[in-house]
Amino acid sequence: MRVVGTFGEARRHLSGRVGLVPTMGFLHEGHLRLIEASVDRADTTVVTVFVNPLQFGDPDDLSRYPRDVERDTDLAAAAGADLLLAPTVADMYPSHPRTTVTVSEVADEMEGRYRPGHFDGVATVVTKLLAGVDPDLAFFGRKDAQQLAVVTTLASDLSFKVDVVGCPIVREQDGLALSSRNVRLGSEDRRRATAISRTLMGLADRIESGTSDVPSLLSDATEALHAVAGLELDYVELADARSAAPMRELVGGQFIAVAARIGDVRLIDAITIENGVVDRGVRLSRPSILYGGP
Ligand code: PAF
Repeated sequence: MRVVGTFGEARRHLSGRVGLVPTMGFLHEGHLRLIEASVDRADTTVVTVFVNPLQFGDPDDLSRYPRDVERDTDLAAAAGADLLLAPTVADMYPSHPRTTVTVSEVADEMEGRYRPGHFDGVATVVTKLLAGVDPDLAFFGRKDAQQLAVVTTLASDLSFKVDVVGCPIVREQDGLALSSRNVRLGSEDRRRATAISRTLMGLADRIESGTSDVPSLLSDATEALHAVAGLELDYVELADARSAAPMRELVGGQFIAVAARIGDVRLIDAITIENGVVDRGVRLSRPSILYGGP
């Protein structure tokens, strides 16, 4: 696997169908599944590692974001990537960006309400990655269900040729959705965090056994999460998978997303619902590589 810092260098090494896996690094098994999905479907897989300052509202969150490019290089290579593009902030934004990308409506609810400007930062960097690498396929996790809707919308609105592919969430053994931020949870907070996936799995069970009363599903989940000491719930919402518009009926092609803060760590999680069947993601059978294992 080759490691490069700029789009120009990356483009010299692309051939055939190109798969893009955008990440902010500190890779975990969720990222590795995206890389493997790309390796299966593309001739050249490009993994990007870039902690994008434009999408962080809180400078402390940006400075505390875990980083280890050497570790990422080894993991991406072992997963079969062909190219790792790890630009510096100056490579990516040589001057203050005067052109930014706003995806209206899709970005307005849920994360849009709690993290103003976040999706402008995501949409701007993803647009640059799509323009710079020009991939045929781009792989994103379904944990960030609203982000997936934002990216799919911008790719279509801006006429990128790319096929945006959503991949299943990977969960730790106790159900917690994998996130690079999990390494910042102390043991007590780690235990509290499992309430998020437990609540979503409870909703999944009720939906699959035929419950369709969305207001009561959402209010029960809200109540359960409000009851967890030390967990500050931002929202539990049912939304359309493409438009991310909040919904009050189960009609398929939807997700239920949760966002909550535990200490200074903000976590999000989701389940996807299609024709009464819930995609809950997949669980690891051993501790994640996030904690230093093999
Ligand atoms: O999901 C992420 O890790 C980031 O939001 C992304 C898509 C790599 C853009 O910085």
